[in-house]
Order: sequence, then C-alpha cells, then structure tokens
Amino acid sequence: MPPYPNGWFAFGFSDELPRGGLLSRPFMGQDVVVYRTQSGQACAVDAYCAHLGAHFGYGGSVEGELLRCPFHGFCYDTHGICVKTGYGTKPPPKAALKVWHLCETNGVLLLYHDCANAAPTWDVPALELDGWTRAIYRKFTLFDHPQETTENSVDIGHFAFVHKYRNTRMLREAVTRGTYLSTAYAAQRAAPGLARLFPNAWLDFQFETQIHGLGYSLVNVTVPSVNVQARLWVLPTPIDEERIQLYLATRIKIAESRQVHPLLAPLPKRALHALINRVMLNSLANDAQQDFVIWQNKKYVQPPALAEGDGPIGKYRQWAKQFYGDVDPEVRSQVEG
Ligand code: FES
Ligand SMILES: [Fe+2]
Repeated sequence: MPPYPNGWFAFGFSDELPRGGLLSRPFMGQDVVVYRTQSGQACAVDAYCAHLGAHFGYGGSVEGELLRCPFHGFCYDTHGICVKTGYGTKPPPKAALKVWHLCETNGVLLLYHDCANAAPTWDVPALELDGWTRAIYRKFTLFDHPQETTENSVDIGHFAFVHKYRNTRMLREAVTRGTYLSTAYAAQRAAPGLARLFPNAWLDFQFETQIHGLGYSLVNVTVPSVNVQARLWVLPTPIDEERIQLYLATRIKIAESRQVHPLLAPLPKRALHALINRVMLNSLANDAQQDFVIWQNKKYVQPPALAEGDGPIGKYRQWAKQFYGDVDPEVRSQVEG
C-alpha cells in the first residue's frame, strides 16, 4: 500500500496550540511546523527555513502574525511568504515556505495531504459541541498504516475475539458517499472501568461509525441504560513510511446521571462528567491496545479470504481505493490485489 493516502489527517489538538504557540512534528515523511498567530489563526508550514534551512521547531517563534526563524530572524506570513529579513533588508523574492492546507474541526488540527499536491475537495464536518465535555486524548506511535487501523471499525468479526464483546450485530448496512463511510452496530461489553462505575457488569452499547477518509473516524457511542453518549475519535496519521501516530480522543454527554454509582452521586456534575470521560478514553485506549499486537504484526492480505460474519470489509476496501490518487499502476495493483 502507498504509505501516504490522500485526505485529512490529524496533526494534534487545538488546545495544544495556544496563541503564539508552535508545534513541530513529523507528518507524512516530512517535518512540519504548525503555529498559531496572536490573532488566533493556525498555520502549517514545512519546518525548514527557505533562507539557509534552519528548523523552526528548534528556536523558531511567533511574532504577532509572523513566523520568525531562529537563525537570521527572517519572518514569514501565513501564506508562507518571507516579508522581512532579520537585517531590515529586502526579503529575497524566492524565500517562500510550503503551506499545508489546515482546518481546525471539532478541536482537531487537521492537515490535508494529496500525493499530487491538489487542494482539498472535501472536508470533515463540524459537530455541535454544546453540552459535550471538552476533548481529552492520548497518542501512540505504531508500526501500521491508516487503512489498516481504520478497517478495524468495520471488522465486526474481531470484536468478540480481541475485545471480548458479546452479541455483536450490524444495525444497518454500511453506507458510502464519496469520501464518507458509515456503519452502525450494537454489542454488549464489560469495560473494566465502566463496570466499576455502574451497577451492571454487562452494558448494551450502540456504535455508529462515521469515517471521513482514512485519517478521521468518529464513533458515536450510546449506552442507553445509563444515558451516556460518547464521541470517540480514532485518528491515524502516517509519520513516516512505516509508522503512524494514532491519536485517540473522547468527549461525552450525559442526559441524566441518576444511575451512576451512589458513591459518585455527590460529585459535582462537571467533575462527574470529566471522570466518566476519562473512563471512556481509557476504555477506548484499552480496546485499541488489545489490537496493537495484531496490527503491528499482521500483513496486508489483498484480496482477503472473507467469510460471512466479517462485516463490510470488502465494501470498505473498495471505498478506500479512492485515497491513493493517480499513483503508479504497479503500486495501485498492490492495493487492489
Ligand atoms: S535560515 Fe532562517 S533566517 Fe536564515
Ligand atoms: Fe479493534
């Protein structure tokens, strides 16, 4: 599989980047810097200065609306254009940085990658966040590929074996619409954290997966018996040809909290919600960690030998082909088998 699919991929979270802040991370085999100007605009550029190649991640700073290089003080605007040198002389006309398409949606900083450098033709929809807790997150570095990790959420068969869910069943057919794919399924699970908080050891869960490209999956989780709704984000981002940064994030919303454990009932609502959100995130991370050993040691089988009970894996793979653009026919044949 080509290591870098087209689409929106997470670089981090909005609250990691205050005004004047700068994050430097590997992204799709390159060093990329994302900074936030004093007016609040986030901007993503290649990490190396066009003047003599200093790395903005090592001493670069935000000066008002500009990114300042640590080496000779050249400053760049959010279009990547050098607008002043550190000497007060005329900026060299060729001094420009590659600017990545960036959007901040639902608290996630997303960068767009396209193998032919084309502009994005689709986006990740913004959600209503009223009444939801703030997002909390964890991240892991893995030897894996985003197509493989995202496939996990349509791989209904593995839930019983790897995650010990009971009674997993599809609630409807998988739906695809352009770069969007959605599934819905239900299961019973005994999350260790939740089992400590709620009276029932086994809870009915409903999951609706909304996948926007290979880098952005949102799982809407409903636990009807306790009126908890959760949003789980699974965001795999290639950092080089072999590894991904897997970002996991959660927000929750609770309609009623009467059924929580009596010991927790006196907690102020905000603290209770934050606690339950933490439990959700840990439970998501536990599930993901159960997958890690399989993911990091499996190979990509195409075409796979599918069986009834697998879930819509064939449909998913067909859909996933669109994210490789006009790649070399030989590379494409590796994806298509
Ligand atoms: S290398 Fe950046 S200003 Fe000289
Ligand atoms: Fe899994």
